[in-house]
Parts: sequence; C-alpha cells; structure tokens
Amino acid sequence: MAILLPGGAGFIGSHTAIELLERGKEIIIVDNFLNSNAKVLESVKKITGRDFKFYEIDYKNRAELEKVFEENEIEAVINFAGFKAVGESVQKPIEYYHNNISGALVLLDTMRKYGCKKFIFSSSATVYGEPERIPLTEECRVGGTTNPYGNTKLFIEQILKDIYQSDNTWDICILRYFNPVGAHESGLIGEEPQGIPNNLLPYMVRVANEQLKELSVFGDDYDTPDGTGVRDYIHVVDLAKGHLKALDKIEKEGQGLYIYNLGTGTGYSVLDMVKAFEKTTGKKVPYKIVPRRPGDIAICYANPQKAKDELGWEATKTLEDMCQDAWNYIKKGNSSYGRNARDNKKNDIRENRL
Ligand code: UD1
Repeated sequence: MAILLPGGAGFIGSHTAIELLERGKEIIIVDNFLNSNAKVLESVKKITGRDFKFYEIDYKNRAELEKVFEENEIEAVINFAGFKAVGESVQKPIEYYHNNISGALVLLDTMRKYGCKKFIFSSSATVYGEPERIPLTEECRVGGTTNPYGNTKLFIEQILKDIYQSDNTWDICILRYFNPVGAHESGLIGEEPQGIPNNLLPYMVRVANEQLKELSVFGDDYDTPDGTGVRDYIHVVDLAKGHLKALDKIEKEGQGLYIYNLGTGTGYSVLDMVKAFEKTTGKKVPYKIVPRRPGDIAICYANPQKAKDELGWEATKTLEDMCQDAWNYIKKGNSSYGRNARDNKKNDIRENRL
C-alpha cells in the first residue's frame, strides 16, 4: 500500500516525501513540474537511498489520475498540489480556483471511486483571516480571507467537512501550516520560488547572497514590540514530520475529521528574523523600511498544543536551524534562482507549489 503525494516535488511535498521514505513507507509522487523540477526527485532519492514511483501528470486530469489508482494500491493521499502565491492569486483567480479547488475535487472523487478515503490536506493559517485572538487555536473563527489563494484553503476545508458529514467513513486531517521556512539539512532541496520571492526568508537569503539588493521591511508601525510584523516560522522538516504523525492518526484511529495547527507557538518579528539570520550565518542583510503590504496582519502565531496532545508532535528545530538550513541551500548552489537573472527579473509574478 502506498501513500500518494500530488505536488510531491514541491517545497513541503518533497520534504514530506523524505520523511515518509525514511520511515519505510512506499510513496508515489504525482507532479506536473509547473512550479518544481525533476531534479528534486533525484535529490529525494539521493538523500534517502530509496526509489519510488513518479507520474508526470496534472492532478486535475481525471483520466490520468485514475490510471495511477488503477495501477497502484493507494492507502492515503497527502495533497500538496496547490498554487500558493498570494499576489498572483489576486491577478489569476480563475487559475487559482481551478487548480486548487477543481483539482481537489477531481482528486477526492477519484479517491472515492477507488475506495481510498484517507486524506491529509495542506491548509494554512491564512484561513483565520484577521486573528480572533493570539495565539490561534483550532477553535478560533475562520473566514475573512482577503485573497483567492486564502479563499481556496478556506473553501477546501469546508468541502472536506461536507464530505465527512455525508460519509463518515472518510478519515480526513486538515493541517494548518503557519510560516514554513528552512530547507533539508543536506542542502540538496529547499524552497524554490519562481522569480523574485514574496516570502520573507527566501527573500532574505537572496539578499545575503547578493542576488537581491536589499530587503524591504513592510511596515514598522504595527502594534508589535518593534513595530514589524510577527509570525510563527516553522522549519519545513518539522512540518514534514507533522504529516507523518497525522498519517499515524488517521491510519490507526479511523473515521474522523481532525484539524491541527502546525506551528511552533513562538512569534518572531521581521527584524528578529534579520538579526537571527545575520547572527547565524555571519552575512549582512541590508534592509529599508517601506509602507505596509496590503492584506498583511500584525501578529500571527499558533497555539500548537492540540497537535502535541493528540498527535504527539511538536516542532523541535530552532530559529538558528531555519536560518542556517535556508542559507546552506542557497550557498551550496542547488537553488536555480539567479542562474537566469534576466528571467527572474522579468518574472515578477510568482506561482509556487506547496
Ligand atoms: C504569506 C501569505 C500567506 C501564506 C504564506 C505562505 C500574505 C499576505 N500571506 O504569509 O497567506 O499562507 O505566505 O508561506 O502574503 N515581509 C517583509 N518583507 C518581505 C517579505 C515579507 O517585511 O519582503 C514581512 C511581512 O510583512 C510579514 C512577514 O515578513 O510580516 C512574513 O511575510 P511572508 O513570509 O510573506 O509570510 P506571510 O505574509 O505571513
């Protein structure tokens, strides 16, 4: 029995693939390499010393997806095949709704057809919108998302609740990621944004590596200790391990729909991140303060207690690990960013796999 990973060549998918393989699980990756590349799969094999099946298909293509289910015995699906660039989602809502929501529906319908009803979904803290309270617990109000990307996460969560309501033989686990950062300690795989990065750490490492001039800090007038935005950064390997715990949960206990925050429970400001990065790596990160980015909130961090109590999971990697590993990945030259600087500059619209 195998675990199917649509979007498994992406940032979080590939790190989860490693954890699954290292645990002795059989995996199958489905990816269309729209925002990832085949080299990642080779790196996953190199790191783990294990082989796995791969299908280069679009998960929205029902006929091709059915073939995967025909040819394999699939026990559970962890879905990473989502577009995730907030700004781009505002410009391309149809593409985002189609890829994320139509794709999820094709996948879930195909799973039902083949009697596979164990599903883990990559959701996001973005579903909380403007936080009702901090730290965020899973019971906090969701909604008020401000962009199509966030809406797709919220809508798919609702779709999953409705599916479970209609048929409680499904086992569904919704994982709300906070801010995934870092890279595998081997430096062979890491975050691969297309074009100029949107997110803080990928941007910062490229400034430190002199591929980008300086960091723009979006606002220093928030109601936070130093005025800059506070987030719950979580190492991608910790996050990947959370998926294994979620899988244990739905494999063993069965018949349930569960929701967990995957965060560390600690918030760091943008300037905390700059300082930690500089201290860990010895590299300078020049920055300037610019106006707030529309749609940003002041503070967002998790209460991760539920995942600790019910999954036996907690993040163990430090902020230094996150900075060091992100830097290591860039330094080793495995990132494709910067190899074609002209394309990177032209391509200021990003779309990334999870
Ligand atoms: C963003 C998305 C969120 C998504 C997550 C995925 C927005 C509004 N939200 O979260 O929906 O789930 O990425 O990883 O885009 N910052 C700077 N300068 C930069 C980049 C970021 O100052 O160049 C600041 C931001 O204002 C924020 C913090 O750094 O305070 C983190 O930003 P980012 O990494 O983009 O993550 P989020 O905005 O939390």
